[in-house]
Amino acid sequence: MKRIGMLTGGGDCPGLNAVLRAIVWMAKREGWTCIGFRQGWKGIIEDNHEELTMDSVSGILPRGGTILRTSRTNPYKNPGDVERVREAVKKNRLDALIAIGGEDTLGAGHKLFKDGVPVIGVPKTIDNDLSATDYTFGYDTALNIATNCIDRLHTTADSHNRVMVAEIMGRHAGWIALESGLAGGADVILIPEVPMTADEICDFIIRRHKRGKNFSIVAVAEGFSIKGEDLVTTKKELDAFGHVMLGGVGDRLSKIIEKKTGFETRCTVLGHIQRGGSPTAFDRVLGTRFGVKAFELAKFGKFGYMAALRGRDIVEVPLADAVGALKTVPMDLYETAKMFFG
Ligand code: F6P
Repeated sequence: MKRIGMLTGGGDCPGLNAVLRAIVWMAKREGWTCIGFRQGWKGIIEDNHEELTMDSVSGILPRGGTILRTSRTNPYKNPGDVERVREAVKKNRLDALIAIGGEDTLGAGHKLFKDGVPVIGVPKTIDNDLSATDYTFGYDTALNIATNCIDRLHTTADSHNRVMVAEIMGRHAGWIALESGLAGGADVILIPEVPMTADEICDFIIRRHKRGKNFSIVAVAEGFSIKGEDLVTTKKELDAFGHVMLGGVGDRLSKIIEKKTGFETRCTVLGHIQRGGSPTAFDRVLGTRFGVKAFELAKFGKFGYMAALRGRDIVEVPLADAVGALKTVPMDLYETAKMFFG
């Protein structure tokens, strides 16, 4: 009987459970056994696993998070961990290992593949910043949550004649901020791809108030830098993959806006609310389709590949293509959103 391992790594996101469920269903049809490693790469390094059965995945389709839990463990950080991964693959007699994650998890997966581990990837992240796939699951849910938050900020901003700054996740890509700002009718949208000076930002707000509006909504991506200033981060230390911890630009911007425009300003950090709760139908369907594809890749021994969405099609792409470069917001989309600034 063939055996397949799976793990979920990096930040959790809605739709992970749909992928796990799909893999288990596919495996059952083919008579394969499924092993789930807990907490991402940490689980396989420590050989901490459980068998995933049809019972384990029953009822998890609408559930957010991941039943396997997750971590930001990097198997290339501590000496000996890669060898531990190889040993766990051998000991558990795995024919394939499906890594479900974003840039970091898949980056490690790609290196492990080159080091002889039979890795197959599934792309996930609310940030939607992975190349080689049109969308990652988790993004649609986060986008809808952020849009809902912007809708809610409108009524309170209006009641108090305030400028409300919403700080939105997305790391160094502005997808969630841009599209939720566009969908929610934000008056200025600030993304990492397009730095702006504080004066330029305030001009949009002043222009809007001059035409009789008494409130404004600013959607700012956490990775946005005010032109001439450094990126705002919450901590000096880097994470296991060498990334800065973003956060705080919304607060910084609120103070500047209030000072420069004289309008009372508040900041709301949407934070992990954007990653929590039940996945949208889009993310459940995409996660399920990715799970089915990942199992097929395992069945046919196509290691070093990942499931991806191209248009309406689920295709396979080399892991190398996914982790090569960040997928940032295209400028035509930004220009459309900019038509509605101010
Ligand atoms: O990559 C997903 C993400 O939510 C980013 O948008 C955000 O910068 C980061 O993870 C937050 O990480 P953590 O959950 O470790 O605070």
